[in-house]
Amino acid sequence: MQPQEGRLELDRCIAQLDKVVRLILGEPVARRPSPAEGTAEDNLDPAVRRHAAALMRVNHCGEVCAQALYQGQAAASSSGSIRKALDMAAGEEIDHLAWSAERVRELRGRLSVLNPFWYAGSFALGYAAGRLGDEWNLGFLAETERQVEEHLQGHLDRLGHRDSRTRALIEGMQREEAEHRRTAERLGARQLPAVARHAMRLAARVMTTLSYRI
Ligand SMILES: [Fe+2]
Ligand SMILES: [Fe+2]
Repeated sequence: MQPQEGRLELDRCIAQLDKVVRLILGEPVARRPSPAEGTAEDNLDPAVRRHAAALMRVNHCGEVCAQALYQGQAAASSSGSIRKALDMAAGEEIDHLAWSAERVRELRGRLSVLNPFWYAGSFALGYAAGRLGDEWNLGFLAETERQVEEHLQGHLDRLGHRDSRTRALIEGMQREEAEHRRTAERLGARQLPAVARHAMRLAARVMTTLSYRI
């Protein structure tokens, strides 16, 4: 490697690290208004408020993971069109991240202290998926989005008709996750083997159970 190339590589690493620190420790700014905007705050009793805050902490953690997965996948992919699709989805996921953090604050909750740990694990997973080639990379993306859609539906079911503002936000994010999945399918995603799908569900269950509490 030429000294100049080494310098460029170092610059890219520093830029990536800066992005990660801002993402996890900073306050990402949404480019679009939250889907909850315009929905009035219900009169929540303290138990419902705490429950909704914990569910939104889980969702925020999921969005940290989504950022890491997409960045890992984009870093490992050699295809321009796939990197473009990943970048576009990652941009929308930054809005999800910001909206989730904002809703946690509104509900007087706190974000998960485990976020840096989930970020690192998800980035490694995304990078590994990206190295498997485009069809598997897209397959991993489509399966992730499918599981996120189901997971958000689970949160809507658990909330019931309480907390309209949180519901409006989750429904808005769920619509976009479905669109991310359809984009991956259109680009040629392969269905992952059942064992990989189950392993992903198991990992997600560990993440959601822990981040509901800490
Ligand atoms: Fe998302
Ligand atoms: Fe998504």
